[in-house]
Amino acid sequence: MKGVLCLIIIFMMKYCQFIILVPCKFDSRCVCLNDTSKPFINVSCVGKDIINIPKFPPTVYSIDLSNNKIGSIPNRSFEYQINLRILDLTSNCIQVLETDSFKGLQNLHKLVLENSCINFHKLPVDVFKPLISLKHLNCKYIWFHGINLPGLLVSTLIHLEYLEVDVSQSTPYGILFDKHFTKLLNLTKLKTGVCSGIEFDEKTFINMKYLTAIDLSSCVSQKYNQSLYGRNKLNSLALGTFILPQTKSFLSLISDVKTFSSLESLFLIGSFEPNVEFNGLIFRFFNNLQIHTKIKELRLNNNYIREILPPEKILVPPRTLQILDLSYNKLTCLCIDIYNLLILNLQHNFLGNCLPYYYCTRFKNLRLEQFDLSFNVIHKLSDIMFAGHKNLQILNISNNFLSDIDFDVSYTPKLKILDLSNNNITMISNKQSLNTLTKMMGQSTFAIDLSNNVLSCNCRTLGFLQWIVNDWDHFRNNGNYKCKLDNKTIITMHNFRTIVRQFAKDCNSYSTIVICVTLGIVVFLFTLCAGLMYRYRWKFRYMYYMTKSRYYRYKPNDDNESYTYNAFISYSDEEKDFVVKECIPILEDADEMKLCIHHRDFLPGEEISVNITNAIHESKKTICIITRSFLDSYYCMFEFNMARMESIYSRNEQNILFLVFYEQIQPRNLPLVMLELVQNQSYIEYPHDEQGNVVFWGKVREAIV
Ligand SMILES: *[C@@H]1O[C@H](CO)[C@@H](O)[C@H](O)[C@H]1NC(C)=O
Ligand SMILES: *[C@@H]1O[C@H](CO)[C@@H](O)[C@H](O)[C@H]1NC(C)=O
Ligand SMILES: *[C@@H]1O[C@H](CO)[C@@H](O)[C@H](O)[C@H]1NC(C)=O
Ligand SMILES: *[C@@H]1O[C@H](CO)[C@@H](O)[C@H](O)[C@H]1NC(C)=O
Ligand SMILES: *[C@@H]1O[C@H](CO)[C@@H](O)[C@H](O)[C@H]1NC(C)=O
Ligand SMILES: *[C@@H]1O[C@H](CO)[C@@H](O)[C@H](O)[C@H]1NC(C)=O
Ligand SMILES: *[C@@H]1O[C@H](CO)[C@@H](O)[C@H](O)[C@H]1NC(C)=O
Ligand SMILES: *[C@@H]1O[C@H](CO)[C@@H](O)[C@H](O)[C@H]1NC(C)=O
Repeated sequence: MKGVLCLIIIFMMKYCQFIILVPCKFDSRCVCLNDTSKPFINVSCVGKDIINIPKFPPTVYSIDLSNNKIGSIPNRSFEYQINLRILDLTSNCIQVLETDSFKGLQNLHKLVLENSCINFHKLPVDVFKPLISLKHLNCKYIWFHGINLPGLLVSTLIHLEYLEVDVSQSTPYGILFDKHFTKLLNLTKLKTGVCSGIEFDEKTFINMKYLTAIDLSSCVSQKYNQSLYGRNKLNSLALGTFILPQTKSFLSLISDVKTFSSLESLFLIGSFEPNVEFNGLIFRFFNNLQIHTKIKELRLNNNYIREILPPEKILVPPRTLQILDLSYNKLTCLCIDIYNLLILNLQHNFLGNCLPYYYCTRFKNLRLEQFDLSFNVIHKLSDIMFAGHKNLQILNISNNFLSDIDFDVSYTPKLKILDLSNNNITMISNKQSLNTLTKMMGQSTFAIDLSNNVLSCNCRTLGFLQWIVNDWDHFRNNGNYKCKLDNKTIITMHNFRTIVRQFAKDCNSYSTIVICVTLGIVVFLFTLCAGLMYRYRWKFRYMYYMTKSRYYRYKPNDDNESYTYNAFISYSDEEKDFVVKECIPILEDADEMKLCIHHRDFLPGEEISVNITNAIHESKKTICIITRSFLDSYYCMFEFNMARMESIYSRNEQNILFLVFYEQIQPRNLPLVMLELVQNQSYIEYPHDEQGNVVFWGKVREAIV
């Protein structure tokens, strides 16, 4: 206890310089609040099982003795408390009060006897007489003896302004406040405590002519029957549950409202039961308030109101109204022109389905500053829901089922709090909303509440999570944000920053892996393609040129024997002499064969590759004069390979290649495919001697006939 006090003292010293909270010197059960700049101290002796009133010094300004066990207040207990202004005896059970119990308290302003089981029957009639300055007497919820406060007890308290008291029906002639109350000219405020089954009528308050604030909200099953008719000074009125039939009381009130020309606040909280039909009544009610009163604050919460007007009609509140509370009703639809309202409370209704269509404000410069739509089963809000709400500061959409911010936030530039807690938001994916919110975070006063939404935490939402971390101070209640991992585990993000940083790391390596694997696959496929291309390069080229040449000049080739040439001679330019001086004279001139010789038979102007493929295609055989320069020549090898392809793809794998080794070449210098042909015996060596040459030419002739 002392530790706590020390802490409090340190706290006080630090922040309030002059105010010191210490155990009182005169009684250690009490705490003294001593403001060094003022001559008086405030004393608090709450909940200390005190039985007798302690002795207090005369400098005491206020005493709080609530929650103790004081059973009696003997004569002169407060004799020296001439400076005492406030005395709180709440929750004691004071059985004995004597004539001089309060003697000396001539400056007391406020006496609280709430819940103190005082029996008015047993009080000495002059017990309150010394309290000549008393302004506020609270004697509600005293141990109830079924009697009303006798006017005689308080009739000397001429300064009394505020009376809090229990009322009971069991008085003769229905007069709750007897004629002695007429002396209390300054009594303007009345509030009830225990109050049940009271029929308030025009006699009830007849001895309290100057009331301006009446709070009967604690009265269950009350009847209102012209009780306050003509009270043009009445400023605020609160009523409790009406007795059945409730519309009778309501109709009487609606009619009396016409005479309440000073009325500014009206509370009908929990006044109606489920079966009350408001249609029409509300219309007259609002109309009378509009025409005859100065109504500023209207609270109609907890009233089972299902429909305030049919949805196609616009609810037009009185022009003077600033605060409208329709919370805790059953509204499914509301079409309201909020006009001059500053505060609109619609929480705990069922507006979710209707709101996007029937909110019906005129989109101009609305004055509304606080708007509560929490607990309304809202799944979605329309984009323009808050259009015109230029002055909105607190927007509460908590405890709904929103899954994103789809409404346009940019209409509300002065927003200070956007409460979206307890919704179904996994992330804000709406780009426009994100941008607007980011802009609004530029103002230090703006804050958004996303607590108790189960955010989705994975690498896809990392950007969103980092967005939160970046503007961390703009997120209210950010200690209890929740997060659902990919494996469906829900964690509370007590340590949001650390967790998000960890995520960033994990996701980074994750995306690295993804990139590497993708890259690997791409490279593999590419290599595969390249490999295949290389492997079948000749086939592709062959196909290509074949298609091309067919396209250019198509020659039917149905008869196997009808080739244009007997042979196409493929040779490198170094062997030109051999071809011109030996091949042509021997094969063409003597044997009447037809040879295709590139420097003679190729079509000028045609692409050389096309010429080659055509020549191969139109010749029965292709003879390659193999020399070292042949192997080195690009076009020779091209011809060789094309001929190979021709034999595979156009001649049913019948061999059309005929190799003539004009020089000695080591097998290891030959390309693999050529070696293969050599092994298949499709070759002949040029002998370079006369006898041999005869045999040679004979074999050639044989091959190409
Ligand atoms: C308030 O405290 C100051 C110093 O702590 C002391 O001198 C003064 O007497 C106290 N005032 C009262 C009214 O007790
Ligand atoms: C005592 O309480 C009254 C009213 O509650 C307050 O005005 C006054 O400043 C307080 N005095 C001290 C010393 O705190
Ligand atoms: C209290 O004072 C009143 C009037 O001064 C007196 O009649 C009464 O007997 C006193 N009560 C006690 C218990 O002394
Ligand atoms: C009643 O209140 C008014 C203003 O509040 C004040 O001037 C007048 O003195 C008070 N009368 C009494 C008897 O306290
Ligand atoms: C209301 O009071 C008037 C006159 O005091 C009385 O005639 C009428 O019956 C009362 N109405 C109800 C519903 O009690
Ligand atoms: C929004 O409404 C909820 C529920 O009615 C309440 O708990 C919360 O404090 C409100 N938020 C703000 C910022 O007033
Ligand atoms: C919350 O959102 C999820 C999908 O994001 C959806 O499946 C679920 O039904 C929603 N819950 C409610 C109550 O709307
Ligand atoms: C889900 O993942 C988190 C962290 O990666 C781990 O701590 C948790 O045990 C996992 N939960 C399940 C049900 O696998």
